[in-house]
Amino acid sequence: MRAALARACIAHPQRSAVNLPATAGWVVVKFGGTSVSTRPRWDTIARIAADWRGKGKRVVVVVSALSGITDKLKAIAECGADAARRRSVRDEIVRRHEAMADELGLEHTPLLPWLAHLIALVDDPRAAAGDLPWQAEVLALGEQLSSTLGQAYLSAQGVPTVWLDAREHLLARALPNQNAWGRYLSASVPTAPAPALTAALTAQGEVFITQGFMARNEAGETVILGRGGSDTSAAYFGALLQAEKVEIWTDVAGMFSANPRTVPGARLLSRLDYEEAQEIATTGAKVLHPRCINPVREAGVPLAVKDTNRPELAGTEIGAAVPDAAPSVKAISERKGVTLIAMESIGMWQQVGFLADVFERFKRHGLSVDLIGSAETNVTVSLDPSENLLNSDVLGALAADLAEVCRVKVIAPCSAVTLVGRGMRSLLPRLAGVLAEFDMVKVHLITQSSNNLNLTLVVDEAAADGLVPTLHAALIKCEALRADDPAVFGPSWQGLYRPAAAAVAAPWWTQRRETLLRLAAEASPRYVYDLATVRERARGLRALASVDGWWYAMKANAHPALLQALAAEGFGIECVSAAELDAATVAAPRTARLFTPNFAPRAEYAAALAAGLRVTLDNLHPLQHWGELFRERDIALRLDLGVGRGHHDKVKTGGAGSKFGLALDQIEEFRRLARQHGARIVGLHAHLGSGIFDIGHWREVYAQLAVLAERFGRVESLNIGGGLGVPARPDEAPIDLAALDAVLAEVKQAYPQYRLWLEPGRYLVAEAGVLLARVTQVKRKGEFHYVGLDTGMNSLIRPALYEAWHEIVNLTRWGAPGETLYQVVGPICESGDVLGSNRLLPACAEGDVMLIATAGAYGRVMASHYNLRPPADEVVV
Ligand code: LLP
Repeated sequence: MRAALARACIAHPQRSAVNLPATAGWVVVKFGGTSVSTRPRWDTIARIAADWRGKGKRVVVVVSALSGITDKLKAIAECGADAARRRSVRDEIVRRHEAMADELGLEHTPLLPWLAHLIALVDDPRAAAGDLPWQAEVLALGEQLSSTLGQAYLSAQGVPTVWLDAREHLLARALPNQNAWGRYLSASVPTAPAPALTAALTAQGEVFITQGFMARNEAGETVILGRGGSDTSAAYFGALLQAEKVEIWTDVAGMFSANPRTVPGARLLSRLDYEEAQEIATTGAKVLHPRCINPVREAGVPLAVKDTNRPELAGTEIGAAVPDAAPSVKAISERKGVTLIAMESIGMWQQVGFLADVFERFKRHGLSVDLIGSAETNVTVSLDPSENLLNSDVLGALAADLAEVCRVKVIAPCSAVTLVGRGMRSLLPRLAGVLAEFDMVKVHLITQSSNNLNLTLVVDEAAADGLVPTLHAALIKCEALRADDPAVFGPSWQGLYRPAAAAVAAPWWTQRRETLLRLAAEASPRYVYDLATVRERARGLRALASVDGWWYAMKANAHPALLQALAAEGFGIECVSAAELDAATVAAPRTARLFTPNFAPRAEYAAALAAGLRVTLDNLHPLQHWGELFRERDIALRLDLGVGRGHHDKVKTGGAGSKFGLALDQIEEFRRLARQHGARIVGLHAHLGSGIFDIGHWREVYAQLAVLAERFGRVESLNIGGGLGVPARPDEAPIDLAALDAVLAEVKQAYPQYRLWLEPGRYLVAEAGVLLARVTQVKRKGEFHYVGLDTGMNSLIRPALYEAWHEIVNLTRWGAPGETLYQVVGPICESGDVLGSNRLLPACAEGDVMLIATAGAYGRVMASHYNLRPPADEVVV
């Protein structure tokens, strides 16, 4: 070994007792920073290593640095001439490792040579200039220290462990056109089975520990494998040793269908093939480093991702093709910080060699291009920050060079949103509803990977906020992501990690089966409402400190018992028609009603005003033509903020294509007309749609209305509408009300002068209602099984109109396992009369009572007598 390595050679046990046969298989287990930072975590590592050893396997443990240490080493590497700062960070690192040794009950002695090396490096003359080989040596220290502690601790715990210097076994090779930064700090190691290494280690021991993140180069210098390099090290060792398995132990059970931090309903991906896993890792999931898949794929070694805290969870298994998997989008991911470079040719149309000229310049700057879109005179490419050293110097130099051959535009920061799934092109027809979510977002680039595994849309980073949760829900809704396929999808993140929250959410009807069967025996079909659930939701909302006034949008459900219950809970009633005004009179006195109609006839406004109600106008016509009605009246103005939101296009109520609200450029004209007729504008209102889960939405509407309100003299209240979404599927996350309160409070603090009103409908009543119906006939046609009910779209039109998903259970056979995939249909003469498709249910028979859940909102109120079939009646429990 050359000087650079030899300098830091440490006396470690190079051999331990060997009892396993030479033919025993190898398993590589890798632990990240948080998994090596406490004693209990080291006990877990010892247990996992001992378990594998107990199963007759040889084990290589690959470790990262203690959490936070690599960042500190990076700080040292980037201090430049500031020697004092370097020393102070050095001292923090020393203290942290001494404390860790104390926690593990170990002497400090094994650490000393590495700490001495750290001290020498900090005062090395190469430090000031940030010499790259020096930086690599600095960065490598974190893993050298943690593996040293680990070797001593595992051995002390009765797992005799041999320390390996990873650099003796991993030889990096520079890639063509790789710049110096990449060669030292983002190196790659070509791997092929290494029988000599296997034989050498076999003779040395049974359990080994080594460092992630580092290798050596042909000159014998230390090099670093780049961000997430420890995963890659594990994969390299797995490939060299032809391991039976590589396990990446981390702090989450595996790869998920989306980032669980933003999408708590994201599903665990239990099985993936190498290519899909590669694609998911490359396009944003942080659980696995993208570089770690290729080595194991080439060697045919299975890779698993597991949770160190919850070793009992199955995790994600990655291997060759997944048998029996339905074609599906597997995941949606997002990469932030993406830079787009748009290049317009200034030469000829279809100029020969334009691409070559352009790409030669990227190569010159050592920049790796990710996505590419091209046209006759334009090429746009993206640069991924994780694969490139993207600072303004590099970009500036690149742009200057490119300017010789084209006009350059840099668009940053962008986000790349990617859908991943094998056979993406065949999934396109199912993606209509998903792509519709991009309606108000400017898409700079769309690419479909030539391996048919991904579809990527690049948008402004700011516009991407909140998009992924919406897209994930839309993917499940349109069955492009087959969350029901057990060959691929496991439980949701919140199901695994927040089971308490999931338990609280068990719907009321699961406890009321007998009552419901009795009610169904009396009459069918029928809606059943649970008042306790309505009250519970009402109280949940009333607890929000930042909201001053609550209104129930009675269009969701106009049953008098519900209106009364909500009025008793302190809700006013928001009405949109004369008949709703009448119906609301039962529950709410005059002052507790709002009238917010759309295109209603003059007489309805006159009646509402005569009853002394607060009327909301949403266009110029009433003031232009019936101005006298509004003289000396307080009115509210509904605005169109330019965008619509919601679970389906048909429920978005903002934007140019929607009939609701006054356009912002008509505000001055509206104010002039109001002044002319002596009407006082005392409230602003906006409701952009229905079925929204992103709490940032209401903050945004609130903030926009508050800014606009400052242009009016007398505005007292801001009504930010309703639209609060309700989970349809059992594993979807409800809105976090405390978080909503917190974001509203932020705006409230800035604009305390306005009263804040909300007017939800669905949130209060959806989960309180179920639709009960009886099976009339069962039929098979081709490969489809149909179960027909005594009602369908005439009682509940939401599935037909919005492709809404409602849970359906066979109440008669409650608890029996699902065995047939049914199309659940009604008796109406329309092909769209489907209540649910592809539902796994126990075999259904004539007379069974079926329950359609979450039907309390927009159910009975939207029902019809189509085919002269009366819709379900209503009863309250
Ligand atoms: N405020 C206004 C002005 C509205 O137009 C609506 C609903 C709401 C409040 C209450 O929205 P909620 O909180 O219920 O989302 N039939 C569709 C929903 C249409 C909502 C119409 N306006 C569905 O079944 O999903």
